Amino acid sequence: MKELKPLNGKTIILGVSGGIAAYKACDLASGLRQMGASVHVVLTSNAKEFVSPLTFQTLTRNPVHCEQFEALGEWRPEHIELAQKADLLLVAPATANVIAKLATGICDDLLTTIVMASRAKIMLAPAMNPNMFEHPATQHNLNILENRYRYEIIPPDFGEVACGDFGQGKMASLDVILTSITSMMFTGPMLSGRHILVTGGGTREAIDPVRFIGNRSSGKMGIAMADAAYARGADVTLVSTVGVERPYPVILVETAQDMQEAVEGEFDSCDALVMTAAVSDFRPLAFSAHKIKKTESEDIVLELTKNPDILDLLGRMKQNDQVIIGFAAESESVMVHAAEKLARKNLDAIVGNDITVPDIGFGSDDNAVVILTADGGKENLPRMPKRAIAEHLCDLLDELFQAKNAVAVSK
Ligand SMILES: Cc1cc2nc3c(=O)[nH]c(=O)nc-3n(C[C@H](O)[C@H](O)[C@H](O)COP(=O)(O)O)c2cc1C
Repeated sequence: MKELKPLNGKTIILGVSGGIAAYKACDLASGLRQMGASVHVVLTSNAKEFVSPLTFQTLTRNPVHCEQFEALGEWRPEHIELAQKADLLLVAPATANVIAKLATGICDDLLTTIVMASRAKIMLAPAMNPNMFEHPATQHNLNILENRYRYEIIPPDFGEVACGDFGQGKMASLDVILTSITSMMFTGPMLSGRHILVTGGGTREAIDPVRFIGNRSSGKMGIAMADAAYARGADVTLVSTVGVERPYPVILVETAQDMQEAVEGEFDSCDALVMTAAVSDFRPLAFSAHKIKKTESEDIVLELTKNPDILDLLGRMKQNDQVIIGFAAESESVMVHAAEKLARKNLDAIVGNDITVPDIGFGSDDNAVVILTADGGKENLPRMPKRAIAEHLCDLLDELFQAKNAVAVSK
């Protein structure tokens, strides 16, 4: 099954003009491709002073266009074809010069010509020295582009720019640009304005300074879920045993008790909790401050005590407008156990998977699951990437929020 990515099937032209932020466009091109878009880069000749076409060609896996009058293999230049079939034309960074040309209809190079020739949505991410940005000419030009031509302008950030000056002019961050694009182009349900709390990974319960009780969870499902919700505009908090650099807050925890504390701290403010983490049911009754030595005896007895059941606790705390989705990794009678947990823990939905199926689930990028909902719904998802499962869960979250709203309105 084809992975569901928010920009699957979309063609994006990324115009890069000659500002110092051109190097950031490399990450942008790569991010857009990873989100499923087919990315075609057009560089101004001044942009080539900052970044090489080869970099973009490698990152996007597509030819890069620079020259207006490059040798034509076809009667119709490929870039004009692209301009017409593109879903989005993004200029990032957009220099003061390109902004001025677009506002006045000057098309003396390939990039400005393509923008004029395209009927796609047009988005600009200006980046320049704060004095250039504040200059009345730039402000006037941006005003024309935004209000008369309906281009979307992603405002630059405040801060220190490359030349050392302070003020507004830094190109908006990659996350802000990618989220603006997803929000603009993704046609599925968005989760903007929702705070989604996601847990991920497997907890570790220390036996002594070197040993622990753990499980095989890799944390991939939690990260996929958090990424998918973030791409749909949600405010995301990920509580995970696996460290990962993300644009949203990631709270790193180790034990079930750490996880409980972190999740309880965030729960009141969240609209939904998606509990993908594999939380250890037990922990050693006592922690040995020193490494436990081998003894003469063949056997060693480790006393265990129960860990808090985080889902159960939060199921009791849940407000009427909050949603909780749990996960049940089972080795037998998946449906029966999942349905029982769904009811007993006061969940809105549960995602069950059979951990005995080889090559999927723990540690894998894929899984095959059954989703049960409290209203009796059941959906079988065959083997697919975890990100695709996460996209299904984002759709489900949207449905569950709508159902809760409808109940609240009818009361
Ligand atoms: C080192 C350096 C950095 C520059 N950074 C920017 C910038 O961030 N934003 C901008 O509008 N112009 C910047 N410029 C000026 C542009 O390169 C110049 O206006 C050029 O004509 C823009 O060409 P283009 O818009 O066709 O790419 C910079 C120039 C140099 C030499």
